[in-house]
Amino acid sequence: MAYDNIIVDVDDHVCTIRLNRPDALNALNLELLKELGEALAEGQKNDKVRCFVITGSEKAFAAGADIKMMSDKSFADVFAGDLFTPEEDAIMRIRKPIIAAVSGYALGGGCELAMMCDFIIASDTAKFGQPEVNLGVMAGMGGTQRLTRLVGRAKSMDMNLTGRFMEAEEAERAGLVSRVVPCKKLIDEATSAAKKIAEKSMISVMAIKEAVHRADQMPLTEAILFERRVFHSMFATADQKEGMAAFIEKREPQFRDK
Ligand code: HXC
Repeated sequence: MAYDNIIVDVDDHVCTIRLNRPDALNALNLELLKELGEALAEGQKNDKVRCFVITGSEKAFAAGADIKMMSDKSFADVFAGDLFTPEEDAIMRIRKPIIAAVSGYALGGGCELAMMCDFIIASDTAKFGQPEVNLGVMAGMGGTQRLTRLVGRAKSMDMNLTGRFMEAEEAERAGLVSRVVPCKKLIDEATSAAKKIAEKSMISVMAIKEAVHRADQMPLTEAILFERRVFHSMFATADQKEGMAAFIEKREPQFRDK
């Protein structure tokens, strides 16, 4: 499918989606978000895709929701129109893993998009922030919620209230990103992580994603029970037999997603 605001490439089981509005530092307008949701849904259906990487340019992953698109909207427009809800839902309903490869600015909606992904690999030039307070508004796609769960209340309050940017090194220390790599190595690192995931049984991978997402959505006892029951259910799969047999026979497993 052809898109105007993103570039999609499927190679070796990895679907890489590059945000592509260079003149606006990849600011997220509704067209871009709609295309992103469509590309993810296509990849979810495509057996050749086993993991996604979402990335931007060297200068900007995304500098936020598109301020020019929002500036004239009224409360009634955004409330009745439920601004950004269908777009966020489309991303959060994807069951295959999504890695955000972040270089440069990941601000406002850009930081929030990165946090909707399953984990973030950052370049050493990455800058995260929730600067909506400078615009007389606040975060609206998880910047007060996912960020708080990821980095804790102190840093989340600091970033949301002052609008300051967090550099990659601090973001790794705080638990916002899983790895920091030199800028030139970002795509290789994210692609190789995606390929590693693509080698696993898709049943384990999707179950793990569902279970980890329960960690901040359910009370611990319920979430542990969810994990235990899903773990039990895996003993009904051929991939569990294959994975354990391969270990005992000292060979590589041949998973079939069954
Ligand atoms: C629309 C944007 C934009 C944005 C940058 N641009 N960010 N357009 N929406 N969020 C545009 C600029 O207007 C400019 O276009 C071009 O991109 C280059 O930006 P510059 O500002 O000239 O670049 P630079 O001086 O390098 O500064 C980079 C920057 C700055 C620090 C990232 O652009 C900036 O502060 N951007 C806004 C960041 C922000 O406030 N994000 C939160 C948005 S609100 P022209 O045509 O003028 O050359 C948000 C709400 C989310 O995300 C809530 C629900 C989703």
